[in-house]
Order: sequence, then C-alpha cells, then structure tokens
Amino acid sequence: MSDGTFVRAAALADVPEGVPTPVLVNGKRLALFNLGDTVHATDEMCTHADYSLCEGHMEGCTVVCPLHFASFDVRTGAVVDPPACDDLTSYPVKVDGDDILVSVS
Ligand code: FES
Repeated sequence: MSDGTFVRAAALADVPEGVPTPVLVNGKRLALFNLGDTVHATDEMCTHADYSLCEGHMEGCTVVCPLHFASFDVRTGAVVDPPACDDLTSYPVKVDGDDILVSVS
C-alpha cells in the first residue's frame, strides 16, 4: 500500500551508529542504519540469498553481507559489490526527537 504514512520504527537510542539494526514495521523486516547525522532504512534481507544484513557490518555508508560479502549503499539500497545483483528496497526515514519513523508504503 502506498500512502506515505510514517510509523515509529524504533527509538533513536536503540539504533547505535554503525550497527545494522533489525526492526519489524507493519510486518516488514527492515534494517536501520545510523550514520551519525542521518538514519536510513532498507529491507533486512540480502537480495543475493536471503540472509540478514543485520548479521553483517557497516563500512562507512555500506553494509556488508556476512554470507558472501556483497555490499550495499545503505542510503539508496544500491548494490556496491557482488555477488548480489539486485538492489535493496530502501524506505524514507524521519527522525522526530527520540523516535525513528519509517514509511514502508
Ligand atoms: S546472501 Fe548476501 S551475499 Fe550472498
């Protein structure tokens, strides 16, 4: 459904800078990435073989999948390094005080 509604995904304090953090928003498994000055959201699962990117680690603005080391730009979801071929879906994020809001529509 595409209605542009933002819903609370997490407290900002629960998403440490540089640590991929899993959340469930409206039944969708997402990963939140705190870059310090901004927060970004993508699907949690790697597009290569459906493995959680929250088991991986961040290198600057990228998240590295621990299974076969594909990497993605967390700001856009774009593939940076193979073997993944398909970009992650990314979602709009707002930080409102202590809350992280995501639009999963
Ligand atoms: S499952 Fe992520 S790179 Fe293969």
